[in-house]
This record gives sequence, C-alpha cells and structure tokens, in this order.
Amino acid sequence: MKLALVGATGLVGKTALTLLSRLPVTELIPVASERSLGQMISFNGKNIPVQSIERALKLEPDVAIFSAGSEVSKKYAPLFSRKGCYVIDNSSAWRMDENVPLVVPEINDSLLTHDKYLIANPNCSTIQMVMVLHPIARVYGLKKVIVSTYQSVTGTGYPGLAQLISEREEQEVANPVYPYPIDLNCIPHCDRFLENDYSREEMKLVNESRKIMDLPDLPVHATAVRIPVIGGHSESVYIELEKSFDVDDLRSLLERSPGIKVLDDPHANLYPMPAIAHNKDDVFVGRIRKDLDNERGLGLWIVADNLRKGAAINAIQIAEIIHQRFIAGVQA
Ligand code: A2P
Repeated sequence: MKLALVGATGLVGKTALTLLSRLPVTELIPVASERSLGQMISFNGKNIPVQSIERALKLEPDVAIFSAGSEVSKKYAPLFSRKGCYVIDNSSAWRMDENVPLVVPEINDSLLTHDKYLIANPNCSTIQMVMVLHPIARVYGLKKVIVSTYQSVTGTGYPGLAQLISEREEQEVANPVYPYPIDLNCIPHCDRFLENDYSREEMKLVNESRKIMDLPDLPVHATAVRIPVIGGHSESVYIELEKSFDVDDLRSLLERSPGIKVLDDPHANLYPMPAIAHNKDDVFVGRIRKDLDNERGLGLWIVADNLRKGAAINAIQIAEIIHQRFIAGVQA
C-alpha cells in the first residue's frame, strides 16, 4: 500500500509514524508544510524526504492519513479522494458532513465501503467516550450523558506542548496557544467558543457522539477543560441509562468489549490515569459506580492516549480495514 502521511512532522503524524509498521506500507510519502521540505523522515530503515502536498497528490497514494489541520483537509482531502485515494482525515473539517462516515472501527466499521473515499476520524475526546458508551448503550440504552474532560496539552499539537515546556523552564512563550498560562493551571476552554457559549470541543463531544452511535437525539452536556498533562485525556462521565443495571454485570460487559481495559479497584489505588494510558492503544475505564440517588445513573472515569486511540491508532485501524477490504483483494 502506497501511503501518504500528511502532517508527518506534527505530533499526531509522528505518533502515526511509530505505528505504521502495523500496516503493509510498501511506499511512504511523508508530507508537511513548505518550511519542512527537505527534512528527512526515517521509516523502515530508510530516510525519506518530506514532500509537498501537491507532489504527494501527483504520486497517487492508495491511502492518505491527514493530520495537518482543517484548512489543509478542506482544500486537499477532496482532491485526493477524487483521484481514488482513500483519505482518513483527522481534522474536524468533514466530520459532520452527512456524506462522510465518521468511524470508530469497534462501533461502525460497516460504514467503510469501497466507494467512500473520504472518511473522518472523530475528535480524540469523543473517541474514548463513545468506545465506552457504545457497548453500554447496546445493552442498557442511553438516556442522557454529562461529561467533563481533563485534556492533555498534546491535543493542541506541538504548539500546546511547547507552551507547557517553555513555562516549566521559565522561558518566554513565543506563540502562546492558550489565553492563560497552562502550567499549574486548568483552563475551561478547549478550541474557540461558539454563539451558544459552548466551546467547539464541547460541541464535538455532543454532535460526533450522536453521529457515531446513531443516536441523533441523545442529550449530551459537555464541559471541556485543558490541563497541564502529557500522555492522555481523562473524562468524568455521568450517564443515565434506560434500564436499571447491576454494576458487576456492567463491569464485565466492558471487560469483554474490544479496545477497552477496565482498571477498577479504587481501594487498591487502581484506576485509569494518563500516566498509565500514555503510549497504549486501549481506552481505560474505572471508578465505575452507581448514582446514590438514581438506580439508572452511572459514574465512570475514562482515560486514553489522545494521540493513539484518540487519533493515530483509530486512523491506522481504519487504514488496515480499507487495505484488507478494498486494496489487497484488488491488487492480488
Ligand atoms: P510543519 O511541521 O511543516 O509545520 P501539529 O498539530 O503538531 O502542529 O502538526 C501539524 C502538522 O501539519 C505538521 O506536520 C505541519 O507541518 C503540517 N502542516 C501544516 N500546514 C501544512 C500544509 N499547508 N501542507 C502540509 N502540511 C502542513
């Protein structure tokens, strides 16, 4: 498979590079902005020069993973997909387009069809939440979701990480991406605010969760918060179920669900944390407990590496399915 990695020098792109050995990549086309042209990317023991996106388009890759932000995706994803390249887009540009599947393979891989050349990878905080909510929804039904996030600075790419590191080293922050210092702080502001006073990140949690789980009317209330952490996003999630439930049954349902690891023995100090989730593929869940006043209310704590399952791993899983279903068979 000839694969273009658009945004190969960014945080998500670099994470994807370390995981590409999981795919049968025969040729890699690393892509970044003009300022990185000529830089070498090491892959499979070779040094490959970074290409411009225009050049990558001419090289006609089979699959392109885009992690270079919405503006690049808006302009170039359709140009690649029109040429028969399967584009897996990590930006928010196409996620809510009704013709574009929004895919978490464990939930809705059936939306991947040979004629859908543009596929959206959901937002990182949404992926980890729906990974846990979906199996619960199928058995118990969902009535309402309330989520508060505690999001890593790596969700803002290199600029977010650079701000945190500069602050910790007491250096001047060249181009701050947050409106306040992030170290020793916690900022209830992820992405820009909308007219309804919710942030775009909060509305991604609302709208993308509804689309992925095919629950268009599900009430979701979200508060997204940036914290000075590297390694993963955490989420405190409260859900009200349609049916009453037994906590042990629900815990074992999650234990049996692919891509989920249950860490839930708080008395033995066992619960998910970014320090545990960092560099892991799974979504971790713990602090599973029933609401004291509502038979159908459930509290959860969900943590995942936002650069892995929240971005690169989900995209690589999609690429793997596309290769197996639509490329390998055709080339054989
Ligand atoms: P570059 O490193 O040359 O700026 P992050 O979110 O970590 O900042 O990463 C963004 C990624 O998107 C980087 O690899 C960046 O490349 C890439 N990028 C930004 N603009 C473009 C563009 N116009 N064409 C291709 N890649 C781009």
